[in-house]
Amino acid sequence: MDTTIDVAGAPRPAPVAPGRLPLLGHAVHLARRPLPFMDGLRRYGKVVRIQLGPAPAYVVTDPELTRAVLVTEPKSFVKGGQIIEALRVFFGDGLATVAEGDLHRRNRRLMQPMFNRVHVAARADAMIGLVADRTRDWPEGAARAVHDEMNDLTLGAFLVALFGTDLPDAVGREFPRLLPEIMRGTIRQTVLPGWLARLPLPAQRRYQANLARLRELVDETIDHDLRRQREQEDSSGLFRTLTTARDAETGEGLSRRQLQDEVITLLTGSVETTGTTLAWALYEIARNPEIERRLHEEIDAVCADRLLSAEDLPTLDYTRRLLQETMRCYGPAWLVTRRTTDAVTLGGYHIPRDADVVYSPYVLQHDPEAFPEPHRFDPDRWAPGRADGIPRGSFLAFGAGNRQCIGESFAWTELVIILAVIASQWRMTTVSDRAAKPVAHVTVHPDKLYMTPRKR
Ligand code: HEM
Repeated sequence: MDTTIDVAGAPRPAPVAPGRLPLLGHAVHLARRPLPFMDGLRRYGKVVRIQLGPAPAYVVTDPELTRAVLVTEPKSFVKGGQIIEALRVFFGDGLATVAEGDLHRRNRRLMQPMFNRVHVAARADAMIGLVADRTRDWPEGAARAVHDEMNDLTLGAFLVALFGTDLPDAVGREFPRLLPEIMRGTIRQTVLPGWLARLPLPAQRRYQANLARLRELVDETIDHDLRRQREQEDSSGLFRTLTTARDAETGEGLSRRQLQDEVITLLTGSVETTGTTLAWALYEIARNPEIERRLHEEIDAVCADRLLSAEDLPTLDYTRRLLQETMRCYGPAWLVTRRTTDAVTLGGYHIPRDADVVYSPYVLQHDPEAFPEPHRFDPDRWAPGRADGIPRGSFLAFGAGNRQCIGESFAWTELVIILAVIASQWRMTTVSDRAAKPVAHVTVHPDKLYMTPRKR
């Protein structure tokens, strides 16, 4: 059956992006210059066919059609595709990779309370305390690798929100080492042909050992949390809402394996996205003195002589605009896939059954129709009044529809906290005058960005 979405006349084949090579398809462009390549596709049509290794993928470059894929026609475009299948190896049936259907709906329902505003707000002061402790004693004038630093801070804030402060030492020490290695290994798995990825090469053995260690650590963390819940009347971490959640119809909770999958999903889904956004925000602030001045002015007006508190967060409008503009400019997701369940016609183009369909927040957020001068960093695009002119579906940093980011309000809380706590104490300056290079891996992150903190 051919599902028809927005068809005008007979369906036609999607244009193929230029530069396709025999056997390699567009892999060379995606490896060498992924962002300009993806951003350039808009020129060829609203749906453009690229070749990811042996398989075709259909990139949707138009906001309305992306909305059809994500929001109005989710039955035709389900979570799947080459990247999701590779990620399933270590996310298992975690929320971000579990197939569409009852299990996803049930688990999303069980996890929702953990991320509602009231619960997240209840952990804000614990996150503020951790970020203040970790940043207070930065040695002044010593350059810091900002992307790693922001990933570590984000991980710390995430762990304190979910599990409280007294985690086993090994967990705090090993997570920051394991997570980036595992993400790199997973990308390698996705890019390599299947037979090569299965060979017992040293890199492959190391990847498997890291995966096994991550599961052990996650298991220790869950045990630790359950023990605390038994021993103390009040264990206030967000994770408690997940271990005690019961399905309204069946009365069942999540199994141990499912809890493990969810913790791994949340760790990997939350750290790199938020850490990358913060690294880019600090970089843009350092390059734009007027933006820095306005940020400091706002934060000083709220908490010049005391530590930030949870109640201050909703008042930090400019800080939020600045972060929103950072996510617009840098994605941070740049390639997200779906799989067609049937042949479809999208915007007049034919897409076969079982094909990969790609949407890219990075590409949509650089469309000059929606965002004039898309490469200009301008937080005031999001000012009341001006933001009304931005078409629906053009800002998609958190996705949309039934698979929209469940951690969005958690992410906003964490982003505002970390940026405000840093900016209340430090001015960060870049070590090099050269523009930072965006690298597209799991997210679009800055390559070798070093910055120096100076006391304000
Ligand atoms: C700046 C920060 C973040 C960004 C930009 C972001 C982005 C995204 C995007 C684009 C999706 C949808 C993917 C798709 O359409 O297939 C997603 C899903 C998801 N995100 Fe986030 N995310 C962020 C932070 C977080 C945080 C902090 C958490 C958890 C604490 C989280 C957990 C998840 C989960 C579990 C899903 C899967 C939801 C589902 O399929 O039902 N994310 N995120």
